[in-house]
This record gives sequence, structure tokens and C-alpha cells, in this order.
Amino acid sequence: MSLFRSNIEAMEAYKPGEQPPAGAKVIKLNTNENPYPPSPRVVEAIQAELGSGKTAGERLRRYSDPMATELRQAASEATGLPIEQILHGNGSDELLAMLLRAFVSEGDAIAYPYPTYVLYETLAHAQGAEIRTVDFNRDFELPADLYGCGAKLVFVAAPNSPSGTVYALNDLRHLADSLIDGILVIDEAYVEFAEHHALGLVSEKPNVVVTRTFSKSHSLAGMRLGLLYASREIVAGLVKVKDSYNLDRLAIAAGAAALRDPEWTAANTRKVKATRARLVKALHELGLEVVPSQSNFVFTRLPGSKAAERAAGAYRFLKERGILIRYFPARLLDDGLRITVGTDGEIDAFLECFREYLQRG
Ligand SMILES: Cc1ncc(COP(=O)(O)O)c(C=O)c1O
Repeated sequence: MSLFRSNIEAMEAYKPGEQPPAGAKVIKLNTNENPYPPSPRVVEAIQAELGSGKTAGERLRRYSDPMATELRQAASEATGLPIEQILHGNGSDELLAMLLRAFVSEGDAIAYPYPTYVLYETLAHAQGAEIRTVDFNRDFELPADLYGCGAKLVFVAAPNSPSGTVYALNDLRHLADSLIDGILVIDEAYVEFAEHHALGLVSEKPNVVVTRTFSKSHSLAGMRLGLLYASREIVAGLVKVKDSYNLDRLAIAAGAAALRDPEWTAANTRKVKATRARLVKALHELGLEVVPSQSNFVFTRLPGSKAAERAAGAYRFLKERGILIRYFPARLLDDGLRITVGTDGEIDAFLECFREYLQRG
């Protein structure tokens, strides 16, 4: 007999993409990290927080600021939103978990389009929530059945993963309006790679929450940093379910420094977008369908009746040659591959290997 709650017993753990051990010689194009380093100001800020000489590490004796004021202040300056409308998380994953904890009772419904970020499902299972999913069409347009769906929380990743697709701002606005007693969570983990964002909806609509991460455009996946933007009331409520010291001192300093160097982020983002364009062109030249991406990854589908087998084969072929990409053995996804946009050199290496695989037939 299990001592776990029945929903925990029944659920599966979230399976993150492979993280090879430090020093492993791989080209890592599987978890949408940034191929470029974080701002030198981030490294300086971490070093300053650590201190040096005889007092090195001294500050680590003390707890970090529970409200990460320095980080939220920097976010407030960067966005123009008041600090009371900003909350910090140990990665945006933690913020998503807080939303479930704060708003969803056992048996309440959450909703999201499918396929999307798998963690929404995991968090819902852990909370004992009912899950309502609505399939995307092949163009990944916002499904009509999400409007007025009656869920407590509706998650929309914009850009979506693994498609990289975005939505018209007006569609998100209307979706928020249609949710009576429901909150629209717009997960903007990849927004810096997109043409537009939805942060303005936070000031317009009391039931809109926007989450962002430092893991992608700020090259800080390893620091575990995320931010949430919402009404003062929502932020105040979420603070009640937050772990007291959810960010450590180094992360707070790093995040604030990253936000204070927008030129660095913008320059890296430009490089990633240029490489994305090269990758898309090369995949088209190989005759493959590519979902139009506004993110730092690209989803491409293999043709024919054996597409799923071929896609899985490509994943394995590349892995054996030290190139990691993402294959999802799941409905509506198993005919495709998601490739993170790396450096030009990494993408060239991927393309060379992938071409070889396709030529083998
Ligand atoms: C759509 C989406 N949201 C959130 C996250 C998690 O970001 P973080 O590293 O901030 O927890 C990811 C990570 O891949 C993601 O794809």
C-alpha cells in the first residue's frame, strides 16, 4: 500500500531533456539553452556577492532577501511595472507551481492547448486538478474551445514550445475576457526571440499573469531565475505560498545584473535569430516542413508514412554522433524534431549529420 496521495501515486514525474555530465563532449541542442555566455556584468555581480580575500563567502552566512528586492527593482525599471506587481521564482517553473498551489483546489480544472510545455500537466497531476486540453490545429492557432472553458487557470505558452509559434495580442485579450473566474497565464519563457509580447495585458486585465525566465535569452538556465508579472492582489496572494528564501543571494545579484545589461541580451538574441533563419532555410532546402518559429528553437516534421520512425531514428543517429536534439514520442509530435538554435558552428555540425541521416534513406 502506498502512503502517497492517490494522484501522486498515479502520476509520472516530469522528464526533463537530457543534461549530459559536465565536460561531456556534446553539441547540446535539446533544452533551449542559450549558446552564448551571460553578460560579464552577471559574473562580476556574483563575484562581488561572494566577496574576496579573508571575507570571501562571508555574506553566504546570512539568508537571502525573501522578496529579492534588488532583482524586482531591476525588473520594475526594465518594464515600467511597479515592484508590487512583480514576483521572483526559482526558475519560472517555480512560479508556475505557485500558481497551481494558490489557485487550484483538488478537482478544479486547468486548461491548455496541446501540444505544449509538459510541466503544466505534471503540476496539475500533483495538485489533483482536472486537465482540459484542446488540440492545436496544424498551424498551432489558439484553439477556439479554450475560450470560456471554465478552467481556474488557462496556460498559454507564447511562444509555444515545441512549436515556437505565437498568438495575436487580440486573441489573448479575448481569451482573458472569456474566462469567468479564471486566470490566463501567458508563459513568455521565449518572448525575447519573438516579435511581440503581452506584458501590456497585465495592466489591462486583472486576470492576466505573465511569466518569464532568465534561462533562455539571459543565458542563465543554471542560476534558476524567473519572474512573474500580475496585479498587486495576485502577487500578494502568491507570496503566501512562496518558499521564504526561494532565491539565493548569488541568483538575486545575477538576475539584477542581467536585467541591467539589456544590450548584451539583445546582441545575443540577434545572433540566435540570425542562426535560426539559416537553420530554417537549410531545413526547407532539405524539403522538410518547418513550423514558423519565433523562438530559439525550431520544430521540423519529417514527411511520409514512416515519419515517426524516421524522426526517432534521426534523434538516435545524431545522439550517437554527439549531437543532442529533442524527440517527443507523443501524439501530434512524434513525426518531428525540435532543434535548439545553437551557434552557427553547432548548427552546421547538426545539419551535416542530419543530411547524412536523410541521405541514408
Ligand atoms: C514554455 C516554457 N516555460 C517555462 C520553462 C521553464 O523555465 P525555467 O528554466 O525558468 O524554469 C520552459 C523551459 O524549457 C519552457 O519551455
